[in-house]
Amino acid sequence: MITFIKHAAQLATLTSSVKGPRTKESMSELGIIEDGSVLIEDGVIIAVGKTDEVEKAYPEKVEHATVYDATGKLVTPGLVDPHTHVVFGGSREREFEMRLEGATYMEIMNAGGGIHATTNMTRKATENQLIEQTKVRLDSFLKHGVTTVESKSGYGMDLETELKQLRVMQTLQETHPVDLVPTFMGAHAVPLEYKGKEDEFVQHVIDEMLPVVAEEKLAEFNDVFCEKDVFTPEQSERILEAGKNLGLIPKIHADEIASYGGAEMAAKVGAISAEHLLKASDQGIKDMAEAGVIACLLPATALYLREEAARGRYMIDEGVAVAISTDCNPGSSPTTSMPLVMNLACISMRMTPAEALTAATYNAACAINREERVGSLEIGKLGDVVLWDVKNYQELQYVFGVNHVHSVWKKGKKVV
Ligand code: NIG
Ligand code: FE
Repeated sequence: MITFIKHAAQLATLTSSVKGPRTKESMSELGIIEDGSVLIEDGVIIAVGKTDEVEKAYPEKVEHATVYDATGKLVTPGLVDPHTHVVFGGSREREFEMRLEGATYMEIMNAGGGIHATTNMTRKATENQLIEQTKVRLDSFLKHGVTTVESKSGYGMDLETELKQLRVMQTLQETHPVDLVPTFMGAHAVPLEYKGKEDEFVQHVIDEMLPVVAEEKLAEFNDVFCEKDVFTPEQSERILEAGKNLGLIPKIHADEIASYGGAEMAAKVGAISAEHLLKASDQGIKDMAEAGVIACLLPATALYLREEAARGRYMIDEGVAVAISTDCNPGSSPTTSMPLVMNLACISMRMTPAEALTAATYNAACAINREERVGSLEIGKLGDVVLWDVKNYQELQYVFGVNHVHSVWKKGKKVV
């Protein structure tokens, strides 16, 4: 199958001479081609360039292609969401009301709600029910231009349910157009049955869960909620080091609610990314820049919890590579809208429209080890492409809270 998308007013390829995660000025390099086109064969990009040049170089391929006209519009790589909790049972709309009435996120969780409530509902759900519920959310991701999604377990916190969540991801990876990238997050909270026995639970994750997950090759990454009243930096480090020994790459929920040394620890263990970072210290940010840890920032979560967003502008200026994500989950960010997250990156974190697009594509791909396959429009990469109903990349961020998606191709196949 050959697909040819042509005459884009702006084709933002997201290519750069810089290798690896983009920092500082390179976050603004979008590699824009005016009157640009992409040619995709059997799911993979075979040419990118000015429309007339690609037509001249590949006349036969173009003749046999299904052609889409992007005149007047912006074309970008498929968006990448590098941090979600998309597989879960039930929903928590009553907690939303409670928080508006004054309860805090941690108060609700410590009273047995929050992550514990979703854990209950996820433990009870069958694998098929979880597949059906998650499929709806993945369809919504696609409609918002997202073609690759990282997905964490962590609503089981017992081996059986953690494996169930990871198997749901595996099934959806085989059956749904969105590509899923699995992360194990057994240490998402201290389950109620381990209250007061935190170290015992940490040991349980290390001895009983991680080896099975690694053995069955159900995850690529290992994440932990390093937070005051959840897991200490020391406990988090033990879990991440144990995962490293089994070949799982560390990620870390760090400094979300309180400044707790999470960013510093992410640098120390060599995590691929640190997430949230609302309260990350200057020193932690410096350490991350030096160690090359990607900051995965979640401005929709900050907005939803009515908190000040992470210091995205400051982090970029300090040389940290920034990615952005929905954090899609039933508590602190029930959204699948990466376009909204890009808008918020600009509005709440003072990132520029170009930086926000880099953070949602190339740097997001780097945060989940997929930069060889997705995140930019280059020969040899997957034909994951979005056509937006705007004339340039600035307009994508300027008219906000609107889904500008016109069409989406996954591996060259039109899916929206
Ligand atoms: O990334 N902070 C911890 N975990 C999720 C929220 C999970 C939930 O509330 O269900 C987060 O925000
Ligand atoms: Fe999260």
